[in-house]
Amino acid sequence: MPISLETERLRLYPPRIADLEARLAMDRDPDVMRFLLRATPEDIDPHRADIRRKILALASPAHVFWHVEEKDAPGFIGCCGVFPLEDSGMIEIGYRFVRRVWGRGFATEAAVAALDHGFKHIGLARIVAVTDPRNLASQRVLQKIGLRPAGMAFHYGRDVKMFECRRASNLAARLGSA
Ligand SMILES: CC(C)(COP(=O)(O)OP(=O)(O)OC[C@H]1O[C@@H](n2cnc3c(N)ncnc32)[C@H](O)[C@@H]1OP(=O)(O)O)[C@@H](O)C(=O)NCCC(=O)NCCS
Repeated sequence: MPISLETERLRLYPPRIADLEARLAMDRDPDVMRFLLRATPEDIDPHRADIRRKILALASPAHVFWHVEEKDAPGFIGCCGVFPLEDSGMIEIGYRFVRRVWGRGFATEAAVAALDHGFKHIGLARIVAVTDPRNLASQRVLQKIGLRPAGMAFHYGRDVKMFECRRASNLAARLGSA
């Protein structure tokens, strides 16, 4: 059953069709999509259909994808989730936010909640992330939430920088720093 999460400032909720156009607007922003490994197709209609299908089909316990809003200012500001990394057998964490909210710590806050959900509720032993090597902001987020560099890999048709963390070490590190 789809669940919602709350952090200090954010609500992570199951994607809703009402967000579709706000999500598409984010995905059409070249600054948001600059380093993303899956580009938004030029033809937006198939992309709209794809997002719509994914919103309606989110069911697998190891595929959790939330839309995010500020508790104090409801309305779509981004997305975050844990989901299969292609057909690698690994689960990745991913996120993106509309440009106007960058730099306020929201990606970090949402990603911590997603990571905890993956480890504590889904029971994952390891979560990875892949980024464009030039995407330093995303790599900083990954570092802040406790993922460590794990070399280069090839995913989504290109060379990517991989990060990883294991349940025990991640929870212990963050409990230790609390
Ligand atoms: C990456 C992204 C999600 C970060 O969101 P955010 O809410 O601004 O992230 P946070 O505020 O939690 O943290 C960003 C960190 O990166 C740092 N940062 C930002 N731009 C940077 C850059 N060019 N180089 C190095 N560090 C950078 C910030 O200073 C901050 O670190 P700090 O807290 O130590 O100061 C957002 O920029 C985004 O949506 N980008 C487009 C989509 C994307 O690239 N998603 C990730 C795909 S792997």
